[in-house]
Amino acid sequence: MSTETVVAARRVSKSFGDACVLNELSFDIQRGEMVGLIGASGAGKSTLIRAIAGLTAIDDDRGVGIGNRSESEILLFSQPIQRGGRVARSANALRVRVGVIFQQFNLVPRLSVLTNVCLGLLGRMPLIRATSGYFTLDQKRRAMRALARVGIAEHALKRGCELSGGQQQRAAIARALVQGAEFIVADEPIASLDPNAARRVMDILADLNRRDGITVLVSLHQVEYALHYCPRTIALKAGKVVYDGPSCALTQDFLSAIYGAESDDLLMFGGPPPRGGEGGRAGNATEAAAFAEGDRVVAFGPSCRLPAGARRVHA
Ligand SMILES: Nc1ncnc2c1ncn2[C@@H]1O[C@H](COP(=O)(O)OP(=O)(O)O)[C@@H](O)[C@H]1O
Ligand SMILES: [Mg+2]
Repeated sequence: MSTETVVAARRVSKSFGDACVLNELSFDIQRGEMVGLIGASGAGKSTLIRAIAGLTAIDDDRGVGIGNRSESEILLFSQPIQRGGRVARSANALRVRVGVIFQQFNLVPRLSVLTNVCLGLLGRMPLIRATSGYFTLDQKRRAMRALARVGIAEHALKRGCELSGGQQQRAAIARALVQGAEFIVADEPIASLDPNAARRVMDILADLNRRDGITVLVSLHQVEYALHYCPRTIALKAGKVVYDGPSCALTQDFLSAIYGAESDDLLMFGGPPPRGGEGGRAGNATEAAAFAEGDRVVAFGPSCRLPAGARRVHA
């Protein structure tokens, strides 16, 4: 696998008024990784995802000592999507390579599911064709293939608003697929879904990651899903990275140590955790052990007691 860096976040800070929501975050994500982003409500997950997608400008470098200055920036595919407080002019060209999935699906309710998926093509179409709203047979076929891939081809002619939440989210993923996204960044894509629908959506993201090599960054309120699906987790607390390393190191004790009382919310919020099985990563006995007892992370296999490469920062 090539080691192209898909995301390089350097000293990323974001304030709203006096409130510092992201505080000097730095990390890289390599092509082919599937990374979970966890943190309690208000930790800064959505702000970080919007910043990575170039939808929110990060702070400029004011206050940094001139001598050891290094610019705050976010690079996608080694090109700046934003730098020093400004979203790059070339951001649109980068955005077509990034599929953004939101918690609230973002389908156009009155349009057919098929047309909604075709909208993923707009970023790569000439403006004149894009504004006509006309899609060729070939483009529709491509959209149908994407809908089949996420398992909802039979709903192609329904209106967006007629689908269940889980189906809408799968349609949003199909839209990212026809867009040709090489990197999918998903902001709590399963927060509004029941556990079955949530597992389907996570299975699809994991499958796209594994079979198509699409790089995935997915924010999750529930740690269990990060443990199950994402080999690596970045944990945020109050806008800082408090952990970045193998997900299997996130034992309950470790989470309690870094999150204190908030860890209850992260571990037990909502329905049961994923069961082992298709699509996920728990075919591996070590990781499956994490889900052995109902909705609590209770145990990890031996290899997880030694989190090779685990890094704890700002403890
Ligand atoms: N546009 C905004 N204006 C002011 N405050 C904001 C804005 N967006 C987010 N915040 C604040 O930033 C903090 C982090 O929010 P967010 O990134 O949505 O966290 P998360 O997604 O982890 O719940 C919260 O305290 C939130 O109130
Ligand atoms: Mg959020």
